[in-house]
Amino acid sequence: MVAPRLVQEVFTEFAADVRWGLTKPGQKEIPSKYLYDEVGSALFEVITVLPEYGLFRADERLLRQNAEAISAKLSPRPLVAVELGSGSGRKTRWMLEALARRQPTVYHPIEISSKALDQCSRELGRLHNVEVRPVQQPYLAGLLSVAAARQPHEQLLVLFLGSTIGNFNSSAAERFLADVRQALTAGDALLLSADLEKPAAQLLPAYDDPLGVTASFNLNVLARMNRELEAEFDLSTFRHLARYNAAERRIEMHLLSTRAQSVPIPRAGCSASFVEGETIWTESSHKYCPREVIEMGRRSGFRPLRQWIDPEWPFAQTLFLAE
Ligand code: TRP
Repeated sequence: MVAPRLVQEVFTEFAADVRWGLTKPGQKEIPSKYLYDEVGSALFEVITVLPEYGLFRADERLLRQNAEAISAKLSPRPLVAVELGSGSGRKTRWMLEALARRQPTVYHPIEISSKALDQCSRELGRLHNVEVRPVQQPYLAGLLSVAAARQPHEQLLVLFLGSTIGNFNSSAAERFLADVRQALTAGDALLLSADLEKPAAQLLPAYDDPLGVTASFNLNVLARMNRELEAEFDLSTFRHLARYNAAERRIEMHLLSTRAQSVPIPRAGCSASFVEGETIWTESSHKYCPREVIEMGRRSGFRPLRQWIDPEWPFAQTLFLAE
């Protein structure tokens, strides 16, 4: 009896968020965390190898080039690395190898997707001097449980890579960093990645690739509602839309209904009605300038140690110490 009830509860949170987001007045929305079910996580892994999605490779290049320098800035104490949203863990390998050359390293990938955690443990589980201990929880809850179990002599290094910080709006991003700081002790470190402003002509294809992988990734949230909530979305009547909002400096991702329609979503206890051209907002990706990242960290209780920028695809990694 326990298992079906658990399944029911998971559906209920998704159902409640869908019901709220698709029936409220004004802009419809679905929180972006629902993009990452098993299918969505797999599609995102494909996005990371697309030539148009330069962010991932910029992040990886920076890690490869600077992992030694980052590791040299940390104390020689035993190190606990915590990664918020590890995905497959592919680019983290460079960091862990550099850390493990200096000291035994415990690595906690934090992920809500169990598939991504399995893949990450496989990818990084055999590195010399590294012990992988996966945590299947939301970012902050996972970080708090790692922090609660730490030994006083250990240093924590939080890795927040990719462009997830850009998926928060500016005030939420700062609040999130302040929450991360709260979980840490003075002297702990944070390595924060952020995608930088660049011409829309370079940015847009990263979020609307010609092969249609990003479109599938976005549309999958409709398919997920069909699978899990018995919804009746006809995917051929929606299309992926990515636009650059220059005033807000962010890419905005939507799903656009190409016709007027009403879609039953039985397990959310509602229908979603669309006029022709109406959209569901699924995610925004804010683009920063380098100074902004430093200032945001400062205001959240961190001291910036160094920032590295990739010249090929403007992208920043900033290393902070908790004050
Ligand atoms: N964090 C990623 C980003 O902002 C997520 C992402 C990439 C994404 N492509 C997407 C989200 C397409 C929704 C739709 O770059």
